[in-house]
Amino acid sequence: MRAQSSSKAAIADRLAAARRRTYELIEPLDDEQLNRVYSPILSPLAWDLGHIANFEELWLVQAIGKREPLHGELGRFYDAIENPRKSRGELPILRDAELRAYLADVRERTLEVLEEVEIGADVDDPLLREGFIYEMLLAHEQQHNETMLQLMQMVDGYEPLHDADRGPAAPPAPSGPELVAVDGGEYEIGAPGAGFAYDNERPRHSVVLDPFEIDRSPVTNGAYLAFVEETDAEPPLYIERDGSDGWVRTAMGRRDPVDPAQPVVHVSWHEADAFARWAGKRLPTEQEWEAARGRLHAVGQAWEWTSSDFLAYPGFEPFPYREYSEVFFGDEHKVLRGGSWAADRDVIRPSFRNWDLPQRRQIFAGVRCARDAGR
Ligand SMILES: [Fe+2]
Repeated sequence: MRAQSSSKAAIADRLAAARRRTYELIEPLDDEQLNRVYSPILSPLAWDLGHIANFEELWLVQAIGKREPLHGELGRFYDAIENPRKSRGELPILRDAELRAYLADVRERTLEVLEEVEIGADVDDPLLREGFIYEMLLAHEQQHNETMLQLMQMVDGYEPLHDADRGPAAPPAPSGPELVAVDGGEYEIGAPGAGFAYDNERPRHSVVLDPFEIDRSPVTNGAYLAFVEETDAEPPLYIERDGSDGWVRTAMGRRDPVDPAQPVVHVSWHEADAFARWAGKRLPTEQEWEAARGRLHAVGQAWEWTSSDFLAYPGFEPFPYREYSEVFFGDEHKVLRGGSWAADRDVIRPSFRNWDLPQRRQIFAGVRCARDAGR
């Protein structure tokens, strides 16, 4: 029992830390900014906040704790599938003081329910086994924090509380050759059977890869802008000419000189693919990316586009609901690997698969190139 109560305390601490982060991100903003629609492809922040609380209410307070919802039918306005991003500003969602009260009230009930449940490795309910549902909830809030930071790039005068929230860091250049050679052969791909992972990371399975080479480092702003200058491609979102022959970054209403050593972000899959071909290379497949993980420098600054469509692994089973991954499988979405500077370190694991439409540029996505061995 003691072990379980201490892990409950650890869960409560992590829930509190995630919520602290959410509040820190919005602290510099007023209610008008929280309610404003900045882009048809991003929700107003008030929707994200209510959705974070509603997801928690649905899964923990209603499904696990068997309580009635606090606001009746309100939850349907926070359903991400039912309500496309472009319509979310019009919905009768909670705002201002009511919104803040909802976040706090749901959290209070969540902590009550946490006291009541069993979360050990041997409990029958797969939602509670090893605290799965709490891990899912934490990851959900952390992933929405990243989406909120995508929107904050568009908020003029947004001053993050922490400097780390201004963008990717420029990692020191690694020593050694530009490309890492990876042997051909059999590799295990996907999350192991135990521990938290999303359904789309399982089951773990083996794949056979041909030998390949992959860039040691992600592509930098400097390298990407050389491609832009030579080919007349669009610069990444939020980068523009400074009026002479330099480049400036224009996010959050600020104009800062572009750091050529930072990993490039805000490029679409199409642009990443064009860059790779211009460089005489190609995008890696997601299996190559995962096989090479551990040999790669500066993972976790920018999501990295892969050439792979978002597909089910052989033997995939949806859990805990089809709408997390299964409805997105197909050739419409491309897989991104790694993680961005805005992602919580808890979310970044070798098997994690992110996905998005190939034209999307508002996400913190960059590129790392590969090529067949012996080229
Ligand atoms: Fe969500």
